[in-house]
Parts: sequence; C-alpha cells; structure tokens
Amino acid sequence: MNVQDYSKISPTAKMTAYWRAKSDIPHSREVAQVMRGEDMTQQLIGQQMTSVMAQYSPMVFEARYKAINRGLQLCKAGNVLELASGLSPRGLGVVDAGYTYVGADLPNMIAESAPLMTSIAVHDGIDTAHLFYEAVNVLDQQQMGKASKHFKGQSFDICNEGLLMYLNLEEKTRLCANIHELLTRVRGSWITTDIEFHFLRAKLLNSVNLEVREMYKNAIADISSRVGRDMINNEFLHIEDATAFFTQAGFTFRRFPFYDGSYALSTLEAAPEYVREPLLEVLSSIHVWILTPML
Ligand SMILES: C[S@@+](CC[C@H](N)C(=O)[O-])C[C@H]1O[C@@H](n2cnc3c(N)ncnc32)[C@H](O)[C@@H]1O
Repeated sequence: MNVQDYSKISPTAKMTAYWRAKSDIPHSREVAQVMRGEDMTQQLIGQQMTSVMAQYSPMVFEARYKAINRGLQLCKAGNVLELASGLSPRGLGVVDAGYTYVGADLPNMIAESAPLMTSIAVHDGIDTAHLFYEAVNVLDQQQMGKASKHFKGQSFDICNEGLLMYLNLEEKTRLCANIHELLTRVRGSWITTDIEFHFLRAKLLNSVNLEVREMYKNAIADISSRVGRDMINNEFLHIEDATAFFTQAGFTFRRFPFYDGSYALSTLEAAPEYVREPLLEVLSSIHVWILTPML
C-alpha cells in the first residue's frame, strides 16, 4: 500500500471534527467550521444518516477525545506524540500546558491541519514553539523516528483515536513494532481508544430499531468502500484476540472505561432522553487501553 491509498481515509477526520464541534472541547468549533466538517459528513454518510447519527455521535466522539485525555492524565503524560492526529485540537492544550506536541498524519492531512492549528494558536496567544505537525505514514518506521526527534531525547507518550479500524492485522503488527521501538527508548505508554470501539458500535446497534440498524450498517459499508478498507473485519471481535495480539507484540496493558465519570460530557444534555441512558451504559462498559512495552 502506498500513501495515496491510505490518504483515502483522511476525509473521515472531517466527520470526526464535525461531531466533536457539538461539544465544549476547546477549539473544536473553529476547526470544524473552517474544514467544512458538516459538508464532508453529509458526503460520507448522506443527509438522512447524518440526522440519525446526530443523536449519538456527539457524545461518542466527545467521550473518545476526553477518554484519551484521561489516559494521558493517568500516565502523567507531558509531551505527546499523537498518531493519525487528523484535525484533533489536542496539541493546542498540550503546548499551552508547557509541553511538546507532535501531531503525525499523512501529508495531505498535515497540509490542512498544520496551518489551521498554528493560526488558531497564534490567534489565541498560544506559543507555537513546541507545536509540531509532521507528515508521517505510521507504518513507516523512519518517518515515525523522525517525528519523535522533536522531543529532543525527552520522554513522551503516544496516543491515537480512530485509526486501528482502518488497518488490517499485518499493518497493525507493523504499527505496534514502530510504537514499541519508540516507546522502549523513553519508557512511555501508548493510549488508544481503538481496541474496543467495535463493541461500542455493536452495543449501540442493539439499542436501536431495525430500520436505523440497517441504515447504520449501510453507512459503515459505504465508508469502508470509499476509503478502501474493510472496517468490520479489521476489528478484534473478541477481547481475547486483542489481548493475545498485543501481548505477542510485546506490550503489557491496563484498561479503564471510556466514560468513568472523571470528566463532564457537555453533549449529554442535548442528546434525546431515550439515547442518554443506553449510551452512557455503553460508554461505561468499553475501555481505553494503556499499553506499555514489556521490559
Ligand atoms: C477517523 S480519522 C481520525 C482523526 C483523529 N484522530 C480524530 O479522532 O479526529 C483517521 C485518520 O487516520 C489518518 N491515517 C490513515 N492512515 C494513516 C497512516 N497510514 N499513517 C498516518 N495517518 C493515517 C487519516 O489521515 C485520518 O486523519
């Protein structure tokens, strides 16, 4: 696979940015507005599905973003390398707290995200001296190594959300090896929300009616074919498979719930009442993983 093939995945970052913009996540609104997140969402899943998903997705994507922040907090992370960073505004918070942030994504995505994030930082008076965006294919060890040079030998942790479902097992194995190599040197951890995301979808689908379930399945199939990736079969269907895979890849891990009550969900109130309880239950039952290379 060359970079052009992976870059078909990049438009999905605009959809994520659109859902996040419904929340109180700092800078998320400007990002979605400038990047025309709503237009891309409608292009990707259609107008009708956009309305249906508007009931669920803002809470899901707010929780996913804040769960990564919770993981970084649990690891006492300072410097952060975010893989497949898309249009995540996380870097602005990291540098504002006095640390170094490197957002790594494919060249086409970085060409859009880097100028936007820098201009938001400048506008908001955030020092950009330690804010970096690097064109990186996460499957390329050299490019990953080059991006990590921004930390100048200091320790850092890695995070990502919304990537693993696009990669097959062989690609995930390569990604794990690249992350393992970087983190072993600095004794850092990798925080990811991607390992149990499939269970979130499956559980949510169980709580909706047949018509919505069919529409949702069609939307996932459409996105899969558009990005040229098998999003369903790329998932770990059983926790035991994920456990075995990451152990084999040389990691130890701990897990905590996506929603553990440690942060406020600003989108909760706007969600229809019949969505709130089941969604909170699902978000509390699936986990973020913190992976650390075995020594
Ligand atoms: C669903 S978006 C998620 C973006 C961001 N993490 C977020 O949650 O808003 C998927 C991202 O993965 C990136 N991506 C896909 N394949 C990649 C690869 N091989 N290397 C680096 N980034 C990749 C895409 O460009 C896109 O930004």
